[in-house]
Amino acid sequence: MLNNVLRRVPTWTIYIAGSLPAVWMAYQTLTGKIGIDPVRAIEWGLGLWALRLLIATLCVTPLRWVGINLLRFRRQLGLLAFAYVVLHFAAWLTIDMGLRWGQILSDLVKRWYIVVGMAALVLLLPLAATSNNASIRALGPKAWNRLHKLAYPATILATIHFMMVGKVYTAEVLTYAGILCVLLAWRVARFGLRGRLWS
Ligand code: HEM
Repeated sequence: MLNNVLRRVPTWTIYIAGSLPAVWMAYQTLTGKIGIDPVRAIEWGLGLWALRLLIATLCVTPLRWVGINLLRFRRQLGLLAFAYVVLHFAAWLTIDMGLRWGQILSDLVKRWYIVVGMAALVLLLPLAATSNNASIRALGPKAWNRLHKLAYPATILATIHFMMVGKVYTAEVLTYAGILCVLLAWRVARFGLRGRLWS
């Protein structure tokens, strides 16, 4: 029943819905309602949506195991997550660092959470570049699937980055880390013993 409804939802609606937080943040910025520290609010908002969408993308497979088929929307969720990561990174480079390359480099070596965030971004690059039908055909489904397992280490690094930024483990941080642990444990429970975790 639910899957019949989902089958009728056009995939482009995910792009529209997923863009709304960015549009809302842009509106709040332009109207001066984003808060007393706009730079931080923009950076945090974009980072949080990147993480939420990464985790949502990883939920697609386990949800299928329990009969909810969102596979048609996985590409849109992944690409939206990547777009928010790129915007988050661009916000740091421009409105935070002001494109001062000396400061950017010193921040990169001084702050470990930036290095961890960069590593997550780098892991996501090949995934975004191959999220199209031509790449699936060129790589073959097996190699493509193996490459896209990089979404797991990328999300683990992104969550560690989030935990390092705050320094204190708030309920919010622990919620994201907890969801990720459940997703990983579920996967290990299903595939780990059969040795198919990464294949
Ligand atoms: C997959 C990649 C990434 C994700 C999911 C992510 C996510 C996040 C999240 C959730 C926050 C904290 C928001 C909050 O506390 O409410 C954050 C903060 C931050 N991130 Fe990222 N991030 C990523 C990559 C990066 C990269 C590549 C950079 C820069 C090179 C970066 C720089 C920062 C900075 C500067 C902060 C704010 C620190 C502060 O409070 O001063 N992040 N990020």
